Amino acid sequence: AGNPANQPPNVPEWTKSLGEGVAVRPYGKPSKFEKDVIRRDVEWLTASRESSVSFTPLHELEGIITPNGLCFERHHGGIAEIDPADHRLMIHGLVERPLILTLEELKRYPRVNRIHFMECAANSGMEWRGAQLNGCQFTHGMIHCVQYTGVSLRTLLEEAGVKTNGKWLLVEGADAAAMDRSLPIEKALDDCIVAYKMNGEALYPEQGYPMRLVVPGWQGNLWVKWLRRIKVGDQPWHTREETSKYTDLLPSGKARRFTWSMDAKSVITSPSPQAPIKHGKGFTIISGLAWSGNGKVKRVDVSLDGGRNWWPARLDGPVLDKALTRFYYEFDWNGESLLLQSRVQDETGYVQPSKAELRKIRGVNSIYHNNGIQTWHVQANGEVENVEVA
Ligand code: MTE
Repeated sequence: AGNPANQPPNVPEWTKSLGEGVAVRPYGKPSKFEKDVIRRDVEWLTASRESSVSFTPLHELEGIITPNGLCFERHHGGIAEIDPADHRLMIHGLVERPLILTLEELKRYPRVNRIHFMECAANSGMEWRGAQLNGCQFTHGMIHCVQYTGVSLRTLLEEAGVKTNGKWLLVEGADAAAMDRSLPIEKALDDCIVAYKMNGEALYPEQGYPMRLVVPGWQGNLWVKWLRRIKVGDQPWHTREETSKYTDLLPSGKARRFTWSMDAKSVITSPSPQAPIKHGKGFTIISGLAWSGNGKVKRVDVSLDGGRNWWPARLDGPVLDKALTRFYYEFDWNGESLLLQSRVQDETGYVQPSKAELRKIRGVNSIYHNNGIQTWHVQANGEVENVEVA
C-alpha cells in the first residue's frame, strides 16, 4: 500500500523540501490521513438533525480523554450559538440572595478541575431488542470523557444562600429547547460543577458554550448545556424530560422514574465492527473502556468464547471516580472465530449484567439504561460483527 517511491530505501517527498511554517495553522487539526476519525450520525434514528445525536468514534480513540471535536452531540433544539457577553446565569427561587452572573463573574469563583464521563441514558438503547447497529461508535458512542474546569455548584448555592425548604433545583438551558430538569439538592451540593472549560479550552458550542452543568455519574440529560437558570424549589417539577422521556417502562406496566445514575458498563472498542483484525493470527491487542456512575472501576474481565471463560484484563492509565477507564487484554490469536465480551465490576461490588439478566428484571420496553454485556463476533478473516449470545 501507499507509494513505494516514498518508502525505504528511497528518500520520501516530505524529506526533500521544507514543510509549512509555524502558525500556518493557527488552530491545529489532525493529519489529513486521519480524515475518517469523525463523529457520525445514523440517518434513520431521528426525524430531524436539530433534535438528533452524533456518536463518538470510540473505536479510533485510546486512553480515557475524548478530544473536544469528537465528543458525541445530543441536542433537542439544535446548537445555540451564544455570545458570552449576552449570556447570564440566574440563580433564584428559595434563596436568600438571588444571583445573576456573567461568565466573567463566574470565573472569579474558586475553580475545580475534574475528569468525568458523560453518558446519554439512551446509549445502547437500540440494543435492548437484540444486536442492531454494527459498530461500537453506534452501540456505545453516546459517551465522552473530558476534564472540566468550572465552579462547584455548592459554592454558588452557598453564595445564594439556599433556604431550609430548598430541596430541588430546576436547571434550564438557553437553547431553543429550553431543556430543563429537576435535580435533588443532595446531588447539587455533592459534586456538581458549572463548567466553562473542557480539556483546558472553552466549551465547544455543541457542548454548551459558554457554560454547562456537570452532574458526575448521572445520565447525560441532566447535564444541561447553555445553562442559564437554576431555580431552587421544594419539590421536583416533573418536566417533559422526566415524565414522557427518560423513564423506563417495566413489564408490570409501571415506569421507573428519576433513574439518574448510570450503572457500571464496559465495551471492547477494538477489535470491533469498524476496527477489524487486519494482521491475521498471532499477538493481538484487545482494547476497551469501562466506567461506572457509582464510583471507580475495580476490575474488568474479558471473554473470548461468549462468556464461558473469563480472563482478567489489565487496567492502564488513571482509574478515576466516575471517569472512563482503559483496559487491555493481550493474547495469541490462533485465527479461529471468537465471541469477545468484557465485564466490569465497580468499587461497590456491582457486576455488569448480561443482556438476558437485564431483560429478566426490566423487560424489553425500555429505551434507556442498557448496560448489558456486549458481544463481538470475530470471524476467521478478522471481520467483526455485532451479535448476541443466548
Ligand atoms: N441541554 C440543553 N440545553 N439542550 C439539550 O438538548 N441535551 C441533553 C444534555 N443537555 C441537551 C442538554 C442530553 S439528552 C444529553 S445526552 C447531553 O446534554 C449531551 O451532551 P453533549 O452534546 O455534550 O454530548
